Amino acid sequence: MKGIIIYQSKFGSTRTYARWIAEETGFKAVDIKKLPKADLRSAEQVVIGSPIMAKSPALTRWILKHWDQIKDKNPILFTTSGAPADSPDLKEWYQASFPDHHRRILKYFPLGGRMVVAELDGLSRFFMKLGQMMEKDPVAKAKMMEDVDAMNRASLGPLLAQIAGSR
Ligand SMILES: Cc1cc2nc3c(=O)[nH]c(=O)nc-3n(C[C@H](O)[C@H](O)[C@H](O)COP(=O)(O)O)c2cc1C
Repeated sequence: MKGIIIYQSKFGSTRTYARWIAEETGFKAVDIKKLPKADLRSAEQVVIGSPIMAKSPALTRWILKHWDQIKDKNPILFTTSGAPADSPDLKEWYQASFPDHHRRILKYFPLGGRMVVAELDGLSRFFMKLGQMMEKDPVAKAKMMEDVDAMNRASLGPLLAQIAGSR
């Protein structure tokens, strides 16, 4: 089966997972900024990788806009985040981002991401600070400006099993 992994990544963690999935499946991993339309059209399975930005997958709008082109291609979404992959926040943010109808079709796998505060550019740092100001929970507030590295290749197991099951 021909598959494609479409990802957005600013700091590299989502790209790294996309490349690991490509190695495991033989699917092509493509940065969303360079996605040839023909590649999306000819794919039988679509895997989308997106960082969480401001409590929502950064590619939410893209997914909703291209829904008719991906809905019949066993679509999978994985996210990377500062929040741990098993955090209930991620379920909430996913539910708030996509209507029921989409969530019935889309298979969602939250994965641990990476953030090095010293590597953030000015704009990202500004948005992180803004998010921190708006956060009411003091524990979450403090955590938002801490380094995180929860990259874990083994955590791809369930996602890879999902791909194997639809082949
Ligand atoms: C501006 C900005 C906003 C972010 N917002 C969130 C957020 O709301 N929740 C969260 O868990 N992580 C958040 N993160 C952390 C990223 O999701 C995490 O670092 C991710 O692994 C980045 O993916 P990338 O390396 O592919 O760019 C944010 C990071 C940045 C820079």
